[in-house]
Amino acid sequence: MKKAEMVIQTSLRKGGTDPIFKIAGEAEKRVKEFGPEAVINSTIGALMDDNGELVTFKAVYDTLKSLPNNMIANYSGLAGQPEFLEKIVDACFKAYKPEGFIRAVATPGGTGAIRHAFCNYTELGDAILLTDWRWSAYETIADDNHRKIATFPLYNEKGGFNLEGYKKSVLELLQKQKRVLTVLNTPAHNPTGYTISNEEWKEIKAFIIETAEAQPESKIILLVDLAYIDFAGKADEARKFMKILTGMPHNVLTLYAYTCSKSYTMYGLRNGAIICVAPTAEIATEFANSCTYSNRGNWSNGTRGAMETITRIFSDEELYNQAMAEQSFYKCILRRRADAFVEEANKIGLKMVTYCDGFFISLPCDHPKEVSDRLMEKNTFVVPLGKGLRFAPCAVSEEKCRRAPQLILQAMKEVGDGC
Ligand SMILES: Cc1ncc(COP(=O)(O)O)c(C=O)c1O
Repeated sequence: MKKAEMVIQTSLRKGGTDPIFKIAGEAEKRVKEFGPEAVINSTIGALMDDNGELVTFKAVYDTLKSLPNNMIANYSGLAGQPEFLEKIVDACFKAYKPEGFIRAVATPGGTGAIRHAFCNYTELGDAILLTDWRWSAYETIADDNHRKIATFPLYNEKGGFNLEGYKKSVLELLQKQKRVLTVLNTPAHNPTGYTISNEEWKEIKAFIIETAEAQPESKIILLVDLAYIDFAGKADEARKFMKILTGMPHNVLTLYAYTCSKSYTMYGLRNGAIICVAPTAEIATEFANSCTYSNRGNWSNGTRGAMETITRIFSDEELYNQAMAEQSFYKCILRRRADAFVEEANKIGLKMVTYCDGFFISLPCDHPKEVSDRLMEKNTFVVPLGKGLRFAPCAVSEEKCRRAPQLILQAMKEVGDGC
């Protein structure tokens, strides 16, 4: 008998657990069996303390829990609460607010912002430009919304941003589609930790302006995914590039996907925004109208209590300082862990792609799945990707970060990986 298929063809999906969650589940079992010291679990994309517990900022959760129930329970405005929209712009840009027409629309985390950018700024069937090393959910969001993806290699031969590859892909897509949306996840890219430098941004900007002026009928949308920005660079210096990305022609729009998931340990509270820096007021209004409409058509509105928490933190100096102190405390811990891993990897000759900042470090290899399986036998859990392995210093103590490179190199040798 023919299998009953009730969903439409394009919605037929394979079941089963996401491979990352499957490995993470196995790691948890081993912790129960052998104790936390014996297991290196670097599969988690969240900040964990040295005992393997999820980090939560006291300033955030004390504020949230102090809110009246009827405020937590209430709906928010469709675009987000007006005060929140002001404060989330501050949280995004801090002292580096660019010139231009800035509007924000609240979204459930960065994922919602990315979804709105894809759906409102590309045509059905268009390809969205991504880097080869990338967060896999971009592809899911694109596919679920009937968009395709195109990719270019993130790195050039010197391990810097591959500007030539980027240019080539943008021009090709413009020729085909007359509009292009490119996603640059920087600073502290997932999964590599790469940060596009200010010099590289200047080159990207020059190319975008030149192309937009040469093709006035085309449209270029730059989506910068800031998911890890608050764990990059010294103080707020990682935001300097935002000032560079201004003064764009009428047919270029810069969008930022900002999320409180990592920055304020609010992962499950689904709190973020899509923010535009538009060349004209009309384009900014059009942005706000489209994204607010998309909110209504997808999830209605965001999490009121989470919005109010951020609003209060950014309205009270003492609370703000407390939140920043917690953030920078963990930023330092993350830096020390990553330094330990990188130092040890360099010492023993374990190859990494260029790492600058953030939650993840990537190790290129030919047989990621086999190496990851071999590592599991040694109670070490890393995520296999298409082009290598992802190690997560955000989730592993400094001592384990120092131990891991040797284990990884050994596993690569054992499976005969030629890197
Ligand atoms: C690169 C990247 N962008 C965006 C996000 C968005 O996360 P959220 O929707 O939880 O804010 C994530 C989360 O893992 C990410 O890794």
